[in-house]
Amino acid sequence: MTSNSLERQPARMPKRPKQALLAKIFHWVNIVSVSIMLTSGLQIYNANPVFGGRAGPHVFPLFTLGGWLAGGRDWHFAAMTLFALNLLWYGVYIGLTRRWKNRFVGGNDVKALQVGQNQKRNAYAWHRIVYTAIVPILLLAVFTGIGMYKPAQFYWIVDAFGGWDALRIVHFMTVPTVIGFAIAHSLLALKVGGTRLLESMFW
Ligand code: HEM
Repeated sequence: MTSNSLERQPARMPKRPKQALLAKIFHWVNIVSVSIMLTSGLQIYNANPVFGGRAGPHVFPLFTLGGWLAGGRDWHFAAMTLFALNLLWYGVYIGLTRRWKNRFVGGNDVKALQVGQNQKRNAYAWHRIVYTAIVPILLLAVFTGIGMYKPAQFYWIVDAFGGWDALRIVHFMTVPTVIGFAIAHSLLALKVGGTRLLESMFW
């Protein structure tokens, strides 16, 4: 594809996108389970902040779930299976239906950004980059979480991060990363497909 044709290439998002019911269910379950994981995780964090220990900066209670350490852990461990299984079946679904070909970033997006005069095409490329990047971040949350959940059985995960404290910090850092990517993902979806695309992901 020449740089000129990339310039002219419109964003491939249809005007009235139709999402499969399975994609909508995934989206809802993901939002609910990630929100529970985030807020209950922050409740756990408040019991003994990663940065600065017990006297370190605490999270405002409005953004926490569970009321106290054990309550936060109960919520975190109850929702982690839902969160992980939802990601797993999303992987199976997007693999079997070959939707990853349209959803994930490709060489065309990178080329379009390199030549990039077409603002709409650029926004679409960024949309796919951000969408693709969320997947390894969520998987990192699962991976580090499993290491924290069963450190004796999965000692090699703890070792891979250089010890428990480093593992805790990486797991914690998935929080601002997930929030940042979720905001970027929503804004780019709005820019690329307008409110119609956003609405089509939910109902
Ligand atoms: C299947 C996925 C996950 C598993 C197995 C998992 C597991 C765990 C475990 C075992 C702990 C430590 C609990 C304790 O020390 O009492 C923890 C803490 C935490 N988790 Fe997760 N987690 C997962 C996903 C997530 C996600 C998606 C987020 C948010 C993006 C998250 C945020 C946190 C936070 C903020 C903490 C507190 C960190 C700290 O201060 O030590 N977790 N998680």
